[in-house]
Amino acid sequence: MCNLNHQLEIKKRRTFAIISHPDAGKTTVTEKMLLLGKVLRTSGTVKARGSGKYAKSDWMKIEKDRGISITTSVMQFQYKNILVNLLDTPGHQDFSEDTYRILTAVDCCLLVIDAAKGIEERTKKLMDVSRLHNTPIITFVNKLDRDSLEPIEILDQIEKELKLSCVPITWPISCGRNFKGVINLDKKLIYFYNKFNKSNVLKTNCDYSDKNVLKKYISSDLHLQIYEELKLISNIYLDFNKKDFLRSIITPIFFGSALTNFGIDHILKSLIKWAPPPIYRSTNTRKVQPAEKHFTGFVFKIQANMDLKHHDRMAFIRIVSGKYTKGIKLRHVRIKKNIIVSDAFYFIAGDRFSIETAYPGDIIGIHNHGTIKIGDSFTEGEEINFIGIPSFAPEIFRRIFLKNPLQQKQLKKGLMQLSEEGAIQVFYPLHNNHLILGAIGILQFDVVIQRLKIEYKIDAIYEKVNIKFARWITSDNKKSIDIFSNKNQSYLALDNFNNLTYLAPNKANLNIMISRYIDINFNKVREQ
Ligand code: G4P
Repeated sequence: MCNLNHQLEIKKRRTFAIISHPDAGKTTVTEKMLLLGKVLRTSGTVKARGSGKYAKSDWMKIEKDRGISITTSVMQFQYKNILVNLLDTPGHQDFSEDTYRILTAVDCCLLVIDAAKGIEERTKKLMDVSRLHNTPIITFVNKLDRDSLEPIEILDQIEKELKLSCVPITWPISCGRNFKGVINLDKKLIYFYNKFNKSNVLKTNCDYSDKNVLKKYISSDLHLQIYEELKLISNIYLDFNKKDFLRSIITPIFFGSALTNFGIDHILKSLIKWAPPPIYRSTNTRKVQPAEKHFTGFVFKIQANMDLKHHDRMAFIRIVSGKYTKGIKLRHVRIKKNIIVSDAFYFIAGDRFSIETAYPGDIIGIHNHGTIKIGDSFTEGEEINFIGIPSFAPEIFRRIFLKNPLQQKQLKKGLMQLSEEGAIQVFYPLHNNHLILGAIGILQFDVVIQRLKIEYKIDAIYEKVNIKFARWITSDNKKSIDIFSNKNQSYLALDNFNNLTYLAPNKANLNIMISRYIDINFNKVREQ
């Protein structure tokens, strides 16, 4: 076990990510949180509003030129006496496996929902992933300053589509032009929304179970409606219970408007109060607890060419136990080698800072000279491998080829590096020399083409290909795999890590295969 100081450092950390469908308000919420954490002095630093521009560092310029966000920033800030690590997930249409894997490195998620749109497709996918780890979820229903769905309808959608029981902590008083604020149901407090004075939110005690008290603060045509709503929800929804929250059975719900900075402090306060401090992670042999003395951590992200001048590659490690100190000697378990880490970094909006010490829950970036892969474990000597860092079957496929055929070797090298990063998956069919790319978001193909051009000086193009599904093939019976492979060569490929993969042209084909080969597993998810 570690010493008292170390235990205090663990206790005061919270590591979380924000998940949302594009445009629900993730960037805006992040920005307001950084303002509350005093990391930013003015709004608009995370993304200059209106212009679509990003903060102007070299790294962000690349993103700006590409017109998309590809960084995973780790933002660390202090709120009250808690050190918050906020992992930013790639935003907008640029949705990749990276987004999924970031969720393996956090202990809690903030789900942001657009009040006018309710649950959207991307949210469902992200929730499926956080469910793999039973990550606790806090929900923020955003944009109440605009016309919204009925709050009960949004809660209904969360319960039905995300299979989470809702516990409203605050409740909105109308929406859009009539938005008056929120009532904290537990504390019996009204927080008044004033779009003309955003920095000073007035609040008052209010026993909302008495309609006359409500009438005092809410206009006469609205107070009865709110009174009825509150009576109804107190009968439907359970009270908050931390145990069920930590098991991801219930989600506390907050309402607000990120743009006008209304309600963000409510979620931050609940986050530092309810989200767990860094929790254990499982390995192939045992669970590793954060309070253990020796350093352990796993790589959940690799980013190449963060600094184009140096062509460097960074591996992002989530610390699970022990302490990072400059110069620490670490065991790179998979390749059975020891390394001295003389420089680890953290990143904010493209700037990097050297770290002297870091603790469980923190994310550090270390240089990767081509030997580190996603899912790799680092320890102070123990031969253990963290598990649960998944690769997901891609959902869209393209064939990539060169404008100049002489660059085949460079193309393979570039694709190998980009796939190690998780930016794309590459498949090598067994029966021809094509190169098939697989991605989760369509924009990934453009990113790859552009990165090949900028970072590897390769001119490539892609075209549609008749593949709809990829499934990794495993079986307890090696003979079954041999039989299956011999009969279905033309549909088989190896991925970048030499895993046998079935590439199906359509759903019917895949279903036939699944029913025909009962002792073959067609896996949608693969452990790294
Ligand atoms: P994202 O990261 O989840 O994709 O969403 P982002 O925060 O970029 O917000 C998407 C759009 O929604 C932005 O408008 C943003 O200003 C707006 N928005 C976010 N929160 C609120 C809110 O509480 N109320 C209202 N009314 N709007 C909100 P945009 O016009 O697309 O971008 P921009 O031109 O403002 O940058």
